[in-house]
Amino acid sequence: MTFFCLIILTYFIGAIPSGVWIGKIFKNIDVRDYGSKNSGATNSYRVLGAKLGVAVLVMDVLKGFIPLYIASKFNLEYNDLVILGLVAILAHTFSCFISFKGGKGVATSLGVFLFLIPVITLILLIIFILVVYFTKYISLGSITAAFLLPIFTFFTHRDSYLFALSVVIGVFVIYRHKTNISRLLSGTENKFKF
Ligand code: G3P
Repeated sequence: MTFFCLIILTYFIGAIPSGVWIGKIFKNIDVRDYGSKNSGATNSYRVLGAKLGVAVLVMDVLKGFIPLYIASKFNLEYNDLVILGLVAILAHTFSCFISFKGGKGVATSLGVFLFLIPVITLILLIIFILVVYFTKYISLGSITAAFLLPIFTFFTHRDSYLFALSVVIGVFVIYRHKTNISRLLSGTENKFKF
């Protein structure tokens, strides 16, 4: 019963459409009408500006981290936390508040994996920052981190649920970037301006 309630709680926290709501509340615009049309933190930064974009980023990361932190206070197995992590990421990308659509899952995955495997996640974050710094493509940084996640997990952790989550999320995040991949290949991807 506790686990079921935590799944529901995790879904509703993960489903909060930070970019859409912050855009509507503070600028009366829908970020999905502009830029890459994505509701995630990158497009929110692009469309709403630095301050609101960072606010969306922080909220999207916390949507992954906070449910697992709350759940960790209950007497659950580690594998249950892994399942809740999957729920949070899927809730972000299939949010009931915006017709079961949502972002690409990168920031919320960051929050989930920061909780589950903080050292590996921080290393991936550094790699992400380096890729973005040298290429100016956020999407390429996200795709690189998503590709490396299961590889790093495989060599550092024995837990099969965690490895399965890493593979599923790695593949899922890359799949969600399919339009970015097309733009990267055709040289038309948006370069990130700080
Ligand atoms: O996390 C999403 C990012 O990798 C790409 O965002 O808006 O450029 O498609 P966007």
